[in-house]
Amino acid sequence: RHRLILDVDTGVDDALAILLACASDDVDLLAITCVAGNTRLADVITNTTALMGLAGRSDVPVAAGRDRALVRVPVGVDNSWVHGGNGRGYATVRENRRAVADIDATDLLIAEAQARPGEVTLITTGPLTNLALAVRREPRLPELLKRWIYMGGAYRTHGNVTPAAEFNVHTDPEAAKIALEAFTGAPLRPTAVGLDVTHQVRLLPAHIEALASAAGDVLAVRPGTTSWGTPNNPIMKYLEGALRKYAEYHHKFHGFYGTYLHDAVTVAVMLDPTLVATRPVAVDVECAGKLTSGQTVADWQNVWQAEPNVDVAVSIDVERSLAALVDGISVMLAS
Ligand code: BDR
Ligand code: CA
Repeated sequence: RHRLILDVDTGVDDALAILLACASDDVDLLAITCVAGNTRLADVITNTTALMGLAGRSDVPVAAGRDRALVRVPVGVDNSWVHGGNGRGYATVRENRRAVADIDATDLLIAEAQARPGEVTLITTGPLTNLALAVRREPRLPELLKRWIYMGGAYRTHGNVTPAAEFNVHTDPEAAKIALEAFTGAPLRPTAVGLDVTHQVRLLPAHIEALASAAGDVLAVRPGTTSWGTPNNPIMKYLEGALRKYAEYHHKFHGFYGTYLHDAVTVAVMLDPTLVATRPVAVDVECAGKLTSGQTVADWQNVWQAEPNVDVAVSIDVERSLAALVDGISVMLAS
């Protein structure tokens, strides 16, 4: 079993990552830590605790982390056109603030890693602010964790928020740099699941309809509609609202009606590492560039003559990854 901590900025695709982790019998979900990113920290917490409630997993601690980037002054980035104003598209939820743990995300991460040296897998699907704070406070964290898998970066391909940078790294480049430097020389290299692979995995209407059908609901997933249907299953209801908004964004800006899976791929890769092929490479983060801030610069030619510090996912089995997600979450929806 994977003893897992998820660090999230929920977020539509973060929600799928959370549900996939909750659905798997192979996962012992120790905690979820929240960070600002796709939306404000308060919304991230609301979405995450609501989802955990819907999944029947309010027993899992959800801890609040950092509400802004380490050093960057928020420049009024409005992400509402991607994930909706609250990070959940058109979904509505009931506030469940009581479910928030009485411990800060960084403290929780350190305490869990210290309590179970070498056993805890960390998956991050948002900006790396919480992790940067944690390694600053506990420099042994990379040795204490079993492994770290992150959604972030674009290593051989272009970015998504700028031509050069991927959203999670771009939102807090200093944090990403601190985290990657701290993990340099760790017993196991971090695994990067970046846009190189996540931009290949598209959740399409047929997949969403299959999820609904597993839940005993019927959805007609079509562009240009204000509703795909009215699911009875509460998780499916959340997904209908969240994914519909995300699909509109993808339709407009990425040319297909559906969604990239991004964050959920990390959990799928933890459960089945054969879904991706990785290559070790030295990676650094651009923090100063005017055009390239937040770029993950990968030294594929070994110009720096530096030890590789990241295993970057360079190819992915798209069909098996989609099946892992749809089948995995379907099990939960059907129960
Ligand atoms: C990443 O950015 C966010 O919008 C998604 O949740 C994902 O973590 C993709 O670049
Ligand atoms: Ca995310």
